[in-house]
Amino acid sequence: MIKILITGASRGLGLEFTKQYLERGDNVIATCRQPEKAKELEGLQKDFGKRLEIEQLDVTSEKSKDVLYQKLLDDSIEINILINNAGIISGDEKEGLSFGNLYKEDFSKVFQVNTVSPILISEKFLPLLKEAIEPKIVNISSMSGSINNKTRSGGYAYSSSKAALNMMTKTLSNELKEMEITVVAIHPGWIKTDMGGENAPLELESSITSIISVIDSLSIKDTGKFLDWQRNEVQW
Ligand SMILES: NC(=O)c1ccc[n+]([C@@H]2O[C@H](COP(=O)([O-])OP(=O)(O)OC[C@H]3O[C@@H](n4cnc5c(N)ncnc54)[C@H](OP(=O)(O)O)[C@@H]3O)[C@@H](O)[C@H]2O)c1
Repeated sequence: MIKILITGASRGLGLEFTKQYLERGDNVIATCRQPEKAKELEGLQKDFGKRLEIEQLDVTSEKSKDVLYQKLLDDSIEINILINNAGIISGDEKEGLSFGNLYKEDFSKVFQVNTVSPILISEKFLPLLKEAIEPKIVNISSMSGSINNKTRSGGYAYSSSKAALNMMTKTLSNELKEMEITVVAIHPGWIKTDMGGENAPLELESSITSIISVIDSLSIKDTGKFLDWQRNEVQW
Protein backbone atom coordinates (compact mmCIF):
# COMPACT_ATOMS: atom_id res chain seq x y z
CA MET A 1 0.00 0.00 0.00
CA ILE A 2 1.45 3.35 -1.03
CA LYS A 3 0.45 6.98 -0.49
CA ILE A 4 -0.12 9.30 -3.43
CA LEU A 5 -0.62 13.07 -3.27
CA ILE A 6 -2.49 14.46 -6.27
CA THR A 7 -3.05 18.12 -7.15
CA GLY A 8 -6.19 19.24 -9.01
CA ALA A 9 -8.17 16.18 -7.90
CA SER A 10 -11.64 17.77 -8.12
CA ARG A 11 -12.28 16.59 -11.69
CA GLY A 12 -10.70 15.26 -14.87
CA LEU A 13 -7.44 13.30 -14.65
CA GLY A 14 -6.87 14.12 -10.98
CA LEU A 15 -10.23 12.70 -9.92
CA GLU A 16 -9.75 9.54 -12.00
CA PHE A 17 -6.23 8.98 -10.59
CA THR A 18 -7.75 9.29 -7.11
CA LYS A 19 -10.51 6.79 -7.90
CA GLN A 20 -8.26 4.18 -9.48
CA TYR A 21 -5.52 4.32 -6.82
CA LEU A 22 -8.20 3.89 -4.14
CA GLU A 23 -9.88 1.03 -5.99
CA ARG A 24 -6.64 -0.93 -6.07
CA GLY A 25 -6.05 -0.42 -2.34
CA ASP A 26 -3.67 2.55 -2.11
CA ASN A 27 -4.00 5.67 0.04
CA VAL A 28 -4.64 9.02 -1.60
CA ILE A 29 -4.32 12.60 -0.47
CA ALA A 30 -6.61 14.25 -3.01
CA THR A 31 -6.08 17.99 -3.05
CA CYS A 32 -8.27 20.63 -4.64
CA ARG A 33 -9.03 24.33 -4.46
CA GLN A 34 -12.54 24.01 -3.03
CA PRO A 35 -13.11 20.72 -1.18
CA GLU A 36 -16.62 21.84 -0.19
CA LYS A 37 -17.59 21.82 -3.88
CA ALA A 38 -15.82 18.56 -4.78
CA LYS A 39 -18.91 16.34 -4.67
CA GLU A 40 -17.30 13.42 -6.54
CA LEU A 41 -14.46 13.31 -4.02
CA GLU A 42 -17.02 13.37 -1.20
CA GLY A 43 -18.71 10.40 -2.85
CA LEU A 44 -15.43 8.48 -2.93
CA GLN A 45 -14.92 9.26 0.75
CA LYS A 46 -18.09 7.28 1.53
CA ASP A 47 -16.70 4.23 -0.27
CA PHE A 48 -13.07 4.39 0.80
CA GLY A 49 -13.15 6.09 4.22
CA LYS A 50 -9.79 6.87 5.78
CA ARG A 51 -7.76 5.73 2.77
CA LEU A 52 -8.88 8.98 1.12
CA GLU A 53 -7.86 12.29 2.63
CA ILE A 54 -9.36 15.35 0.92
CA GLU A 55 -7.31 18.48 1.48
CA GLN A 56 -7.51 22.09 0.35
CA LEU A 57 -4.67 23.14 -1.94
CA ASP A 58 -4.61 25.99 -4.41
CA VAL A 59 -1.30 25.24 -6.06
CA THR A 60 -0.58 28.94 -6.56
CA SER A 61 -1.12 29.88 -2.91
CA GLU A 62 1.90 29.85 -0.59
CA LYS A 63 -0.38 29.87 2.44
CA SER A 64 -2.46 26.94 1.28
CA LYS A 65 0.70 24.94 0.52
CA ASP A 66 2.27 25.77 3.90
CA VAL A 67 -0.85 24.78 5.83
CA LEU A 68 -1.11 21.42 4.09
CA TYR A 69 2.61 20.71 4.42
CA GLN A 70 2.55 21.41 8.15
CA LYS A 71 -0.50 19.20 8.63
CA LEU A 72 1.11 16.27 6.82
CA LEU A 73 4.39 16.80 8.68
CA ASP A 74 2.59 16.82 12.04
CA ASP A 75 0.89 13.56 11.06
CA SER A 76 4.30 12.04 10.05
CA ILE A 77 2.98 11.33 6.55
CA GLU A 78 5.30 9.86 3.93
CA ILE A 79 4.45 10.35 0.27
CA ASN A 80 5.50 7.72 -2.27
CA ILE A 81 4.16 9.49 -5.35
CA LEU A 82 3.52 13.19 -5.92
CA ILE A 83 1.41 13.81 -9.02
CA ASN A 84 1.59 17.45 -10.11
CA ASN A 85 -1.57 17.33 -12.18
CA ALA A 86 -3.38 20.68 -11.75
CA GLY A 87 -3.30 22.62 -15.00
CA ILE A 88 -5.05 25.33 -16.97
CA ILE A 89 -5.12 26.32 -20.63
CA SER A 90 -5.67 29.98 -20.05
CA GLY A 91 -6.31 32.29 -17.10
CA ASP A 92 -9.75 33.48 -18.09
CA GLU A 93 -10.82 31.54 -21.14
CA LYS A 94 -11.26 27.83 -21.74
CA GLU A 95 -9.37 28.04 -25.02
CA GLY A 96 -5.81 29.25 -25.28
CA LEU A 97 -5.73 32.82 -26.59
CA SER A 98 -4.65 33.30 -30.18
CA PHE A 99 -2.05 35.67 -31.60
CA GLY A 100 -3.63 39.12 -31.72
CA ASN A 101 -5.50 38.57 -28.42
CA LEU A 102 -2.59 37.83 -26.10
CA TYR A 103 -2.09 39.71 -22.86
CA LYS A 104 0.55 39.39 -20.22
CA GLU A 105 -1.62 38.55 -17.18
CA ASP A 106 -2.87 35.47 -18.98
CA PHE A 107 0.70 34.21 -19.40
CA SER A 108 1.38 34.85 -15.71
CA LYS A 109 -1.63 32.82 -14.59
CA VAL A 110 -0.90 29.88 -16.87
CA PHE A 111 2.79 29.79 -15.95
CA GLN A 112 1.99 30.05 -12.22
CA VAL A 113 -0.27 26.99 -12.31
CA ASN A 114 1.42 24.82 -14.96
CA THR A 115 5.10 25.54 -14.44
CA VAL A 116 5.98 27.33 -11.23
CA SER A 117 3.62 25.43 -8.92
CA PRO A 118 4.89 21.91 -9.74
CA ILE A 119 8.48 22.86 -8.89
CA LEU A 120 7.54 24.79 -5.74
CA ILE A 121 5.26 22.00 -4.54
CA SER A 122 8.00 19.44 -5.19
CA GLU A 123 10.41 21.61 -3.21
CA LYS A 124 7.99 22.08 -0.31
CA PHE A 125 6.92 18.43 0.00
CA LEU A 126 10.40 16.96 -0.57
CA PRO A 127 10.94 16.10 3.12
CA LEU A 128 7.81 13.90 3.00
CA LEU A 129 9.01 12.14 -0.16
CA LYS A 130 12.61 11.65 0.92
CA GLU A 131 11.90 9.01 3.55
CA ALA A 132 9.31 7.07 1.52
CA ILE A 133 10.00 3.84 -0.39
CA GLU A 134 10.83 4.42 -4.08
CA PRO A 135 9.61 8.02 -4.19
CA LYS A 136 8.43 9.46 -7.49
CA ILE A 137 7.44 12.89 -8.74
CA VAL A 138 5.19 12.83 -11.81
CA ASN A 139 4.61 16.09 -13.62
CA ILE A 140 1.61 15.93 -15.94
CA SER A 141 2.92 17.65 -19.03
CA SER A 142 1.60 17.63 -22.58
CA MET A 143 2.61 16.89 -26.13
CA SER A 144 1.83 20.59 -26.62
CA GLY A 145 5.02 21.26 -24.67
CA SER A 146 7.16 19.23 -27.07
CA ILE A 147 9.07 21.73 -29.20
CA ASN A 148 9.95 19.02 -31.73
CA ASN A 149 6.30 18.11 -32.22
CA LYS A 150 4.94 21.66 -32.40
CA THR A 151 3.56 21.93 -35.91
CA ARG A 152 0.61 24.28 -35.30
CA SER A 153 0.30 27.90 -34.26
CA GLY A 154 -1.55 29.00 -31.14
CA GLY A 155 -1.47 27.83 -27.53
CA TYR A 156 1.30 30.32 -26.74
CA ALA A 157 0.86 30.34 -22.98
CA TYR A 158 -0.12 26.67 -22.56
CA SER A 159 2.50 25.14 -24.87
CA SER A 160 5.33 27.24 -23.55
CA SER A 161 4.29 26.60 -19.94
CA LYS A 162 4.47 22.85 -20.55
CA ALA A 163 7.80 23.14 -22.43
CA ALA A 164 9.13 25.02 -19.39
CA LEU A 165 7.64 22.35 -17.11
CA ASN A 166 9.63 19.79 -19.07
CA MET A 167 12.81 21.74 -18.36
CA MET A 168 11.85 21.97 -14.68
CA THR A 169 11.36 18.20 -14.70
CA LYS A 170 14.76 17.52 -16.25
CA THR A 171 16.53 19.93 -13.91
CA LEU A 172 14.77 18.53 -10.83
CA SER A 173 15.58 14.97 -11.88
CA ASN A 174 19.29 15.90 -11.87
CA GLU A 175 18.85 17.58 -8.48
CA LEU A 176 17.15 14.60 -6.83
CA LYS A 177 18.95 11.70 -8.51
CA GLU A 178 21.35 11.17 -5.61
CA MET A 179 18.36 10.88 -3.28
CA GLU A 180 16.98 8.16 -5.59
CA ILE A 181 13.81 10.16 -6.25
CA THR A 182 12.51 9.48 -9.75
CA VAL A 183 11.19 12.56 -11.55
CA VAL A 184 9.40 12.34 -14.90
CA ALA A 185 7.11 14.33 -17.18
CA ILE A 186 4.16 12.43 -18.65
CA HIS A 187 2.03 13.36 -21.65
CA PRO A 188 -1.31 11.77 -20.76
CA GLY A 189 -2.71 11.74 -24.29
CA TRP A 190 -5.65 13.76 -25.55
CA ILE A 191 -8.42 12.76 -23.18
CA LYS A 192 -12.12 13.60 -22.83
CA THR A 193 -12.23 15.99 -19.85
CA ASP A 194 -13.33 19.60 -19.40
CA MET A 195 -9.93 20.59 -20.75
CA GLY A 196 -9.61 17.92 -23.45
CA GLY A 197 -13.18 18.42 -24.73
CA GLU A 198 -15.66 15.99 -26.27
CA ASN A 199 -13.68 15.41 -29.46
CA ALA A 200 -10.71 13.92 -27.65
CA PRO A 201 -10.04 10.37 -28.85
CA LEU A 202 -9.11 8.87 -25.47
CA GLU A 203 -11.42 7.86 -22.63
CA LEU A 204 -10.47 8.97 -19.16
CA GLU A 205 -10.71 5.61 -17.42
CA SER A 206 -8.52 3.58 -19.79
CA SER A 207 -5.96 6.37 -20.14
CA ILE A 208 -5.49 6.69 -16.41
CA THR A 209 -5.22 2.89 -16.03
CA SER A 210 -2.45 3.03 -18.59
CA ILE A 211 -0.65 5.98 -16.93
CA ILE A 212 -0.82 4.25 -13.54
CA SER A 213 0.94 1.21 -15.00
CA VAL A 214 3.59 3.49 -16.52
CA ILE A 215 4.10 5.10 -13.09
CA ASP A 216 4.29 1.62 -11.45
CA SER A 217 7.01 0.63 -13.90
CA LEU A 218 9.24 3.64 -13.21
CA SER A 219 12.56 3.29 -11.45
CA ILE A 220 15.44 5.67 -10.89
CA LYS A 221 16.80 4.52 -14.29
CA ASP A 222 13.90 6.44 -15.88
CA THR A 223 14.47 9.70 -14.06
CA GLY A 224 14.45 12.77 -16.31
CA LYS A 225 12.39 11.12 -19.06
CA PHE A 226 9.43 12.61 -20.94
CA LEU A 227 7.03 9.69 -21.51
CA ASP A 228 3.54 9.28 -22.89
CA TRP A 229 0.67 7.22 -21.47
CA GLN A 230 1.93 4.16 -23.35
CA ARG A 231 5.50 4.56 -22.03
CA ASN A 232 6.86 5.82 -25.36
CA GLU A 233 9.54 8.49 -24.97
CA VAL A 234 8.35 11.87 -26.26
CA GLN A 235 10.76 14.21 -28.02
CA TRP A 236 11.50 17.35 -26.00
N1 LIG B 1 -7.25 16.42 -21.04
C1 LIG B 1 -6.28 16.38 -21.93
O1 LIG B 1 -6.49 16.03 -23.10
C2 LIG B 1 -4.86 16.73 -21.53
C3 LIG B 1 -3.84 16.59 -22.48
C4 LIG B 1 -2.53 16.89 -22.15
C5 LIG B 1 -2.25 17.30 -20.86
N2 LIG B 1 -3.25 17.44 -19.95
C6 LIG B 1 -2.88 17.90 -18.60
O2 LIG B 1 -3.47 17.07 -17.63
C7 LIG B 1 -3.72 17.81 -16.43
C8 LIG B 1 -5.19 17.64 -16.01
O3 LIG B 1 -6.00 18.07 -17.09
P1 LIG B 1 -7.57 17.79 -17.15
O4 LIG B 1 -7.88 17.44 -18.54
O5 LIG B 1 -7.97 16.88 -16.06
O6 LIG B 1 -8.11 19.28 -16.89
P2 LIG B 1 -9.47 19.77 -16.22
O7 LIG B 1 -10.55 18.79 -16.42
O8 LIG B 1 -9.66 21.16 -16.70
O9 LIG B 1 -9.10 19.80 -14.66
C9 LIG B 1 -8.09 20.66 -14.21
C10 LIG B 1 -7.89 20.47 -12.73
O10 LIG B 1 -6.87 21.39 -12.30
C11 LIG B 1 -7.38 22.09 -11.16
N3 LIG B 1 -6.77 23.39 -10.97
C12 LIG B 1 -6.70 24.44 -11.83
N4 LIG B 1 -6.07 25.48 -11.24
C13 LIG B 1 -5.74 25.08 -9.99
C14 LIG B 1 -5.09 25.69 -8.90
N5 LIG B 1 -4.65 26.96 -8.94
N6 LIG B 1 -4.89 24.96 -7.76
C15 LIG B 1 -5.33 23.69 -7.68
N7 LIG B 1 -5.98 23.06 -8.68
C16 LIG B 1 -6.17 23.75 -9.82
C17 LIG B 1 -8.88 22.20 -11.41
O11 LIG B 1 -9.53 22.51 -10.19
P3 LIG B 1 -10.95 23.31 -10.12
O12 LIG B 1 -12.01 22.24 -10.23
O13 LIG B 1 -10.90 23.97 -8.79
O14 LIG B 1 -10.99 24.28 -11.26
C18 LIG B 1 -9.15 20.78 -11.91
O15 LIG B 1 -9.23 19.87 -10.85
C19 LIG B 1 -3.34 19.26 -16.74
O16 LIG B 1 -2.05 19.53 -16.27
C20 LIG B 1 -3.37 19.29 -18.27
O17 LIG B 1 -2.52 20.30 -18.79
C21 LIG B 1 -4.55 17.17 -20.25
